[in-house]
This record gives sequence, C-alpha cells and structure tokens, in this order.
Amino acid sequence: MMNKLSKWMQKKDGSVEENDKQADNIPQHVAIIMDGNGRWARRKGLPRVAGHRAGMKTVIEITRAADEKGVKVLTLYAFSTENWKRPLEEVDFLMRLPGQFLASELDELMDRNVQVRMVGSEENLPSFTVEAVRRAQERTANNTGLILNFALNYGSRTEIVKAIQDIAGKVADGAFSVSDIDESMIHDHLETKNLPDPDLLIRTSGELRLSNFMLWQLAYSELWFTDVYWPDFSQEHFNEAIAAYQQRSRRYGALT
Ligand code: FPP
Repeated sequence: MMNKLSKWMQKKDGSVEENDKQADNIPQHVAIIMDGNGRWARRKGLPRVAGHRAGMKTVIEITRAADEKGVKVLTLYAFSTENWKRPLEEVDFLMRLPGQFLASELDELMDRNVQVRMVGSEENLPSFTVEAVRRAQERTANNTGLILNFALNYGSRTEIVKAIQDIAGKVADGAFSVSDIDESMIHDHLETKNLPDPDLLIRTSGELRLSNFMLWQLAYSELWFTDVYWPDFSQEHFNEAIAAYQQRSRRYGALT
C-alpha cells in the first residue's frame, strides 16, 4: 500500500519531527479518551463487555481514519491506572483486548506501515497482555508511518511522579543542579518524550473531564467532545473533530 506518511520524519531514536505540519493543518498528534462502552452496551441490553468488544472494532476504524487523514500519532487511552477498580471479570476482559486486537489487525497495521507503541506501566499487567504488545512493537518497530500509541495502565500523575523521582535522583547524584530543571527536562522524563504533545484531544460519550490523562502534555491541546459513545464513533465523527480543529486558532497564550 502506498504510504501517505512517508514524507514524515521519524528520527532514528524514534522521535518525531514537530515542524513538518502539513499545509492543510492536520493535527500531528490526536489523543482519544475512548469512553461510553458500558453505556452503549446497557442501552442495547447487553453486558458491559459487549461494549468493549464493539469498542475494539472502533479502534481499527479510527486507526484507518487517522492514517488516511495523515495524522502522525494516534494515542488511545485503553486502560487507566484507575480502571483496576472495576470488577475482576471486566478487567480480565479488557486485558485480553490488546492481544485479540493485534492478532486480528496486525497484518493490516503492517500493510499500513503503522508503528505500535505503548505508554503506561507494564507492571501489574498480565504477561499475555505485555507479550502481545511487545510482539507488536517488535514487529512494527521499523515502520515509519502512523504511530499507534496505546495508553495502557497509564496514569498521568504516576507518570509525573516518576519523572520527578528520576530528576531528583539525578540532582542527588550531582548530574545537574536544581536550577537546571526546566520544562524540556520534564518533557524528557515523561513516557511521551519521543512524541509531540497532542494537538487535539477527543473524548467520547459526553463526559467533560481529563481523567488523569496526559495532564502535562495536554497543556495547549485543542479539546473536542462528543456525546457519541465510543462503539458508535465513526470515521465521519473523527473527520468532524479534525474539521473543528482546523477552524480553531491556536494562540498558546498570545494575542494572535
Ligand atoms: C471506557 O468506557 C472504555 C474503557 C475503559 C476501555 C476502552 C477500551 C476499548 C475501547 C477497547 C480497547 C481496544 C484495544 C485494542 C486496546 P466505559 O466502560 O468507562 O464506559 P461507561 O462510562 O459507559 O461505563
């Protein structure tokens, strides 16, 4: 398949050049809080996990949509550090989704030159989840197209705490002084260090909150919310969000 993304620069260290925005102002990095699977299922009189299964189909549809639009990074919030509080059967079901998704979709992801990545802690994840994601990461490591980044067992505050611990440890070791700490150093200690910050955050299902997702990275992102539940979220909705983004004027605190 022709790779529409080949003009994008992915550097050898895996980082992505930020300064090659396309003329038509496509967001480079779109992050999505995929919400509403449970309510979608309840509305249909189905068990909650049926909503998650349907949500998995939306994941491939939106990956295709992002690829076709020319988005460079698509981050999907698949499991938060708070989601462990759900019933055991639901957690177990969610943990099996990455493996199922990758078993059925990895060939297409390869055809599309998609590179799979993950942010979040592997700690506490079942080995079958970790193995599935690692295998996909290895197989797609040399792909240079869309980065499909799963946030799995991810929590932004935990990520920030870890970054502070790392930095404080280096200060204690004398590697640098407190006054050397700046925004770029913090950026470099986050799990997203090789990615541009999200330009656009989408949250489905009518909830208007960030839920501990990329709190540092979303500082200047455009936010777009829809009442549509994730399993019903389609390429058309995705394109609507992109079109809304294109109408926005990003000022980063300045006047123009
Ligand atoms: C939120 O809906 C959704 C989740 C916590 C899980 C998201 C997971 C998927 C969409 C599938 C992931 C697929 C892969 C490939 C990893 P909710 O259950 O909180 O919905 P509710 O608020 O209506 O209860």
